[in-house]
Amino acid sequence: MEYNITQYDLEQGALEIQYIEEFFGEFPRKKTAAEIVARLANRSHLILLANAPLPDDPGTVMPVSFKVAHEILTNEQEPKLRDLVERLRGSVTFDGRRVLYTWIGGTRRDWRGQGHFRALTEQQEQWAIEQGFDEIVVKTKNKFYEMRGTLDHLRFEVVKYERDPIDNEESKVYLSKRLLPELLRRHRSSRTVTQATI
Ligand SMILES: CC(C)(COP(=O)(O)OP(=O)(O)OC[C@H]1O[C@@H](n2cnc3c(N)ncnc32)[C@H](O)[C@@H]1OP(=O)(O)O)[C@@H](O)C(=O)NCCC(=O)NCCS
Repeated sequence: MEYNITQYDLEQGALEIQYIEEFFGEFPRKKTAAEIVARLANRSHLILLANAPLPDDPGTVMPVSFKVAHEILTNEQEPKLRDLVERLRGSVTFDGRRVLYTWIGGTRRDWRGQGHFRALTEQQEQWAIEQGFDEIVVKTKNKFYEMRGTLDHLRFEVVKYERDPIDNEESKVYLSKRLLPELLRRHRSSRTVTQATI
């Protein structure tokens, strides 16, 4: 199967992400386009969506899976990002290295298990290596079993576990993958990538 991926620029991509997140019942707090723009503006970032046909109308192709990532730096000023970097310190090396953080992502329920998220992940890794990143970091929670299982299949390694004092389901799990050039040889998906045009 050839996966069909679109790379978006910031403004259009933020609107696409806001739209697709509406389909995710499991996301308690959905991101607004304005919030996405505020987070990604002025930092290296990548917005990817995978497109696929509607099962009952194969002529109609729509975004079904997404992945948004951005660079994190050792001296972040924004409180949430400063907190994230502080929590990662000691588990991820920042000095002299470029670290990409996978912020949000998912696949619409009807299209899960078809390889769309693997294809987006492999495209993200290819882009990150081309851009000179050294490592990709992602954060999830104990209770997100599908995501944990998927990250396991995608060969992310746990670098930190932060136990929630009250409810272990809420405990945070930080995972990472080092971006060595040989990684590209292990990629499995065949992809067509286009840049969105307005
Ligand atoms: C996790 C999620 C993104 C997977 O997307 P997907 O498009 O179905 O994933 P893919 O089909 O590309 O699968 C990628 C790999 O993960 C594995 N995988 C997918 N879902 C899995 C699951 N529920 N349990 C274990 N492994 C799983 C696949 O077998 C595949 O491995 P392989 O390529 O070695 O065969 C999707 O289930 C999802 O959006 N879940 C909700 C998101 C969420 O909970 N977010 C919370 C915030 S982190």
